[in-house]
Amino acid sequence: MDSITAVVLAAGQGKRMISGLPKVMHRICGRPLLHLVFDSLKGAGISKVVAVVGYGSEHIFSYFKDQGITDGADGIEFVNQPEQLGSGHAVMVAAEAMRLAEFNGKVIVINGDMPMVKPETISALIEAHGKYNNAVTIVSADLPDPFGLGRVIRKSGSYGSLERIVEQKDASEEVLGINEVNAGVYCFDSQRLVEALGELKNDNSQGEYYLTDTIGILSSRGERAGVYKLPDYKESLGVNDRVELSRIDELMRGRICKELMLDYGVTIVDPQNTYIDLGVEIQQDTVIYPGCVIEGNTRIGSGCIIGPNTRVSDSVIEDGVKVECSVLNKAHVRRNSTVGPFAYLRPDTVVGENARIGDFVELKNSNIGDGTKIPHLSYVGDSDVGSGTNIGCGVITCNYDGRKKYRTTIGNNVFVGSNTNLIAPVSLGDGSYVASGSTVTDDVPEGALAVARGRQTNKEGWVEKRAERG
Ligand code: UD1
Ligand code: MG
Repeated sequence: MDSITAVVLAAGQGKRMISGLPKVMHRICGRPLLHLVFDSLKGAGISKVVAVVGYGSEHIFSYFKDQGITDGADGIEFVNQPEQLGSGHAVMVAAEAMRLAEFNGKVIVINGDMPMVKPETISALIEAHGKYNNAVTIVSADLPDPFGLGRVIRKSGSYGSLERIVEQKDASEEVLGINEVNAGVYCFDSQRLVEALGELKNDNSQGEYYLTDTIGILSSRGERAGVYKLPDYKESLGVNDRVELSRIDELMRGRICKELMLDYGVTIVDPQNTYIDLGVEIQQDTVIYPGCVIEGNTRIGSGCIIGPNTRVSDSVIEDGVKVECSVLNKAHVRRNSTVGPFAYLRPDTVVGENARIGDFVELKNSNIGDGTKIPHLSYVGDSDVGSGTNIGCGVITCNYDGRKKYRTTIGNNVFVGSNTNLIAPVSLGDGSYVASGSTVTDDVPEGALAVARGRQTNKEGWVEKRAERG
């Protein structure tokens, strides 16, 4: 066994969320709280993690399965706490499952609802724990409003050592006046933890086994209990309701934008109106205008201009691309192309280099070649379009016959006149032309002109004759 193991407490429902999802599955900048806690532990170099789950665990399993993380893989193991009898009970359940009694080392315990904790903080906690030879060390913070949280009671006269933690509901007026709170991250010596867990009782106002009581138990036996106080209390903020969720989302968003600006050379014109998920990559000298939502597994190259008012999800945008007021979902746009304003790129669309996708154009499951222009008001779906082609205003690929979908193939250097319907399956050969207003049902050979519309007839004097008829 590694000498450091982490236990993440994630079995609670989080009643105040008023949700069908367990609290730890609510997302901050696209990522569930629990996943963020795993990220922090991993960032601190902890490779063995036991997560205690209970309420709504099926949601937790299906999310992590989608992420490729199953029980036992990536050093993460899930343990079930069928009844939520308190944070101390959750650790007892974990201790039994991981056979903690046979383990000599350190155990980090962390609440699953605190996504802002940085890996550096966990490392600092471990360091402080070792330096002072403590049996237990906790992370604390001075909060402007400590309501609802466990208060830190220090031993009088000996700064730095901890006597116990008192929960809000069990606190006297005097204790409620303390602003230093227990953040919910602990480092224990494994054997001391096992001993203290054996002595836990639930004789408190909530009838729960409090993990926090282990500190008083150890301290009263003369063991050293210490505190690592956060310089920035914001890291300690947890999520208990949706107001806190949005507040922490805002803080995390700020962190993401700041990092992109300072470390990656991205211009973000108005960070407060820019929503970038964790894990999104954006390269140097790209400018993000206000009102952009950039989500999921998205990569944006350098020298791009994105926005205003653009949503990009799970997409790749290469260097030098301009996207304005558009929506891209699972799309790939190659170098120096322009998209929008008001374009909609749906899944499995690849736009080549130097292409132009203009206003009110919808693309779906299509490949668009280099230098091709689809400048206005078109629907191109299930299509392969070559390079140097021009698709006129209002061209529609009719890809669906009410039962099945069919592909349209358009070659290189093709000119499709405005307001054309291409009834799939159909193909237009290289260099062919289609006259405006055509409804094309048959393949067009290379270099041919297709005209598929009624020939115009002019009836001379028709208006006058109608007037005479009365
Ligand atoms: C806890 C601490 C409190 C601290 C605060 C920081 C206790 C008793 N109190 O209070 O000192 O200031 O966190 O946010 O721990 N959980 C389980 N199983 C259970 C009960 C809880 O897994 O049976 C999990 C929850 O899912 C949650 C964590 O433990 O992630 C903490 O539980 P919660 O009910 O949020 O405790 P707080 O009242 O916030
Ligand atoms: Mg909590």
